[in-house]
Amino acid sequence: MPRPTEQNPYLPHSPFCSRGSTLFLYRSFFKEENRMEMYVISVILASSLIIPFTLKTFFPYLWVDISYFGDLLWILVRFVSRRRRRPFFFVLDRFLEQTAAHPDKPFIVFENERYSYAYTDKRSNKTANALQAHPGYKAGDTVALFMGNEPAFLFTWLALAKLGSPVALLNHNIRTKSLLHCFNCCKAKVLIAASELKDAVEDVLPSLTEQGVTVLLMTKHCNTPGIESFSDKVDEASDAPLPMSLRSHITFKSPAVYIYTSGTTGLPKAAVVNQNRLLIALAVLSSNGVMPNDVFYLNLPLYHTAGFIVGFIGSIETGSTIVLKRKFSASQFWDDCRKNSVTVIQYIGEVMRYLCSTPKRENDKDHKVRLAIGNGIRADVWREFLSRFGNIQIREFYASTEGNVGFVNYAGKIGAIGRVNFLHRRLFPYILVKYDTERDEPVRDANGLCVEAPKGETGLLLSKITDIAPFVGYAQNEEQTEKKRLRNVLKKGDLYFNSGDLMRIDKDNFIYFQDRVGDTFRWKGENVATTEVSDILTICDCLKEANVYGVQVPGHEGRIGMAAVTGKEGAQFDGSKLYKHVVSYLPSYARPRFIRVQNAMEVTGTFKQMKVKLVEENFDPGRIQDPLYILNDNEKSYVPLTAQVYCSILSGNTKL
Ligand SMILES: *[C@@H]1O[C@H](CO)[C@@H](O)[C@H](O)[C@H]1NC(C)=O
Repeated sequence: MPRPTEQNPYLPHSPFCSRGSTLFLYRSFFKEENRMEMYVISVILASSLIIPFTLKTFFPYLWVDISYFGDLLWILVRFVSRRRRRPFFFVLDRFLEQTAAHPDKPFIVFENERYSYAYTDKRSNKTANALQAHPGYKAGDTVALFMGNEPAFLFTWLALAKLGSPVALLNHNIRTKSLLHCFNCCKAKVLIAASELKDAVEDVLPSLTEQGVTVLLMTKHCNTPGIESFSDKVDEASDAPLPMSLRSHITFKSPAVYIYTSGTTGLPKAAVVNQNRLLIALAVLSSNGVMPNDVFYLNLPLYHTAGFIVGFIGSIETGSTIVLKRKFSASQFWDDCRKNSVTVIQYIGEVMRYLCSTPKRENDKDHKVRLAIGNGIRADVWREFLSRFGNIQIREFYASTEGNVGFVNYAGKIGAIGRVNFLHRRLFPYILVKYDTERDEPVRDANGLCVEAPKGETGLLLSKITDIAPFVGYAQNEEQTEKKRLRNVLKKGDLYFNSGDLMRIDKDNFIYFQDRVGDTFRWKGENVATTEVSDILTICDCLKEANVYGVQVPGHEGRIGMAAVTGKEGAQFDGSKLYKHVVSYLPSYARPRFIRVQNAMEVTGTFKQMKVKLVEENFDPGRIQDPLYILNDNEKSYVPLTAQVYCSILSGNTKL
């Protein structure tokens, strides 16, 4: 391997972690070049000698372990050879390779339209040329994309890749304060928005204009001063190639995309996904058995890791066809699959449950879907899904946008998110430590160190931050980045990434996801930061304080939002006013469904201890003396939560 000329350009420092073991191999290959290569090879050899002796332990998973291992080696070899190429090879280059190989193959199918690889390439060239001609943009400037799932999202991203611009993927549900916050944290110079988001853009326009941001709307005409139409310019632009020199400044450390995550506190944070991580992410579908002739159904939001990285980036590697859906729909799901001969679907836990709760149909098993890839499926839903929709292989994995550890359940063990692999764990150290849910922090022993959770017990997942498993952190947010780092875990001075996820490992070495900790909860596949919601509630005139938390509802993944609030002096609780406020400031998944009105916030104990008690008391009107309200979209108000409504929620008659 040639010596790097600049400081460590070979060093992958931000891997996408759907597959931990793959990654440590990738990384180890680059760490110290030949010495490390030899080390990996000898570890591999050693492991193949050890395996026969540990047959008993591994049985009956030995063969899947070995075959998984083979897959990993293959991915590793490919990655290594790409990293050695000059000029640098990025995800965009893989797309161009695919286009050259099969220009006429459909790449994106959307509603009734099909867009070939060649069309996608041309359209993205037109977009890039139109943008380059704009005086408000310079090649390499960061651009924020504010758009729902539609082909233009993908064309524009490719265009920006050709121009060497990092792209911030804004969640199209956010508005006002959150929108501005997200826009600002990646220092974007240009905002490109879908035409239907014009109102949301107008809300923040004065502030954007003040900052000198160029605002482009994907429409042919626009009369609003300060917003320019852009689709007409794209239509007229040339599809000529974009010179390589535009991207010559890019290295593997350059940011490629910013993806927003709601962390444990405060407003969303922009996780930096750099070029190296994106290149690693290419393998996410191919390593799970997706083939070039597969048709992939992408129905998750493109602004999230699942839709963008797993679905889109993963498909660029396999060269398969993406059936893109504007928004997930349980009732249209299988018809879409049948109509488009979909072979691979993608999920989050909610998707699978919604599919299982649709009315049974005779043709439930009539489809070509052979593989489902995703995360968060519950064991009971998993069983039901298989029995209802037939023999579909489920590949459940665990990864986070910014984290440095990942697992994949390649053995198909129902309910698990992955499997402990002694080799993976040795070179890529992660640990489950005992967690004190009352105090909301890891348990520390007399020496101030964390305590490993024994097998079978739930613990917090921590993974060591090393050269080969780095944590890049969040854009413009050192404070939040630091919060995800945990020190003095096993010995004084060591450094781990705090995943914020509680897990359990069983005696067969399967890993199970249990819960998220702290000030975040998950609802409908989205992380909700409680402090962000309470900040917004307390700017409503009638409320003084708000303590937001998530409560569990039988039969649902995650937790639904609830807030304990106190009123302003002399102000009455006004359900319709609060409803209006909540709806205009928060996306639907983050709106507190239940409100508990208290005379005073409890003052004893810590804020967090108080939360634990509130969470335990749930939203049961039979147990809680305080007035309870439920958000009612039909009445556009918070209405009293009666025992009857409560029962109907528990029985599943009232949909949440
Ligand atoms: C579009 O641009 C890319 C990258 O510069 C180039 O490889 C490709 O040939 C161009 N496509 C057309 C149709 O000119």
